[in-house]
Amino acid sequence: MAVNEKVVITDNRQVGQDLFVMEFCLPALAKLCKPGQFVHVLLNRQADPLLRRPLSLFDVDQAEGIIRLLYRVVGRGTELLAQKKMGDTIEVMGPLGTGFSLCQKAKAVLVGGGVGIAPLVYLARMLSEKGCQVQVLHGAANKDQLVAASYLDYPGIELWTATMDGSIGFKGLVTELLQEQVDPSKCDFIYTCGPEPMMAAVSEYARQNHISGEVSLEENMACGVGACLGCARKLKPEDENLVKVCKDGPVFDIKAVEF
Ligand SMILES: Cc1cc2nc3c(=O)[nH]c(=O)nc-3n(C[C@H](O)[C@H](O)[C@H](O)COP(=O)(O)OP(=O)(O)OC[C@H]3O[C@@H](n4cnc5c(N)ncnc54)[C@H](O)[C@@H]3O)c2cc1C
Ligand code: FES
Repeated sequence: MAVNEKVVITDNRQVGQDLFVMEFCLPALAKLCKPGQFVHVLLNRQADPLLRRPLSLFDVDQAEGIIRLLYRVVGRGTELLAQKKMGDTIEVMGPLGTGFSLCQKAKAVLVGGGVGIAPLVYLARMLSEKGCQVQVLHGAANKDQLVAASYLDYPGIELWTATMDGSIGFKGLVTELLQEQVDPSKCDFIYTCGPEPMMAAVSEYARQNHISGEVSLEENMACGVGACLGCARKLKPEDENLVKVCKDGPVFDIKAVEF
């Protein structure tokens, strides 16, 4: 079940280099949300941009009905989104797609690259509420792109950071941080979202250490609801069938995907 509603933006602030957090209140949507799902955002009713833009549920307060989206400005749609002010409206359809499965009372490691941290923040909070010990590894080019810390300040969540320029945390790739610092014998489940080469390295770490996990994939989308094949892809080159990332995913078993 999904809702499609016009919402009033209650906040839209720049939080880092090209990164914004948008907030709106929609209790009917918030109560349906699961971590890993996304909303399909219609910026305006004009012909440009014609298509909606998919954005992950970054932070959801179900009690207050508040939803936050973290987005990076990369093109026309996200530029227009960044120009929206408090009191402006957008149309949101969601929640769409499959969510992450929530392991219980386990040690979970979440690896996010860049804005790929977006779906992992809400996930981290829900896992901590289920009694998991949660270790979040977030990597980015520099400290101005590591914007999730204030949203992860919950009991049971530990945040480790990596930057390419060494401006904060570990200097290097987040996957090097994973290899060098995370003891695989203490990791029950791994979740990842970010650039595909990063997810490939996380997937290899999981495979070598026999750890189960899930990945969140990104594809350009049109309808967002499984009707157009715009997001169809094979998960492995030898697969006969295509999956629709919007409907069958965006979350998939880490073993099902070959990057
Ligand atoms: C399920 C899902 C969840 C997402 N969640 C988030 C999120 O929480 N925060 C966030 O910042 N972004 C997220 N994205 C990516 C986001 O949807 C795109 O960055 C956005 O649609 C770009 O729109 P645009 O008009 O600004 O850029 P466009 O002008 O459409 O494109 C600009 C550039 O970005 C590339 N691009 C566009 N869409 C995608 C895409 N889906 N994946 C990879 N490259 C793309 C284009 O090829 C082009 O090079 C998500 C994508 C998916 C599929
Ligand atoms: S975007 Fe239309 S089927 Fe996925």
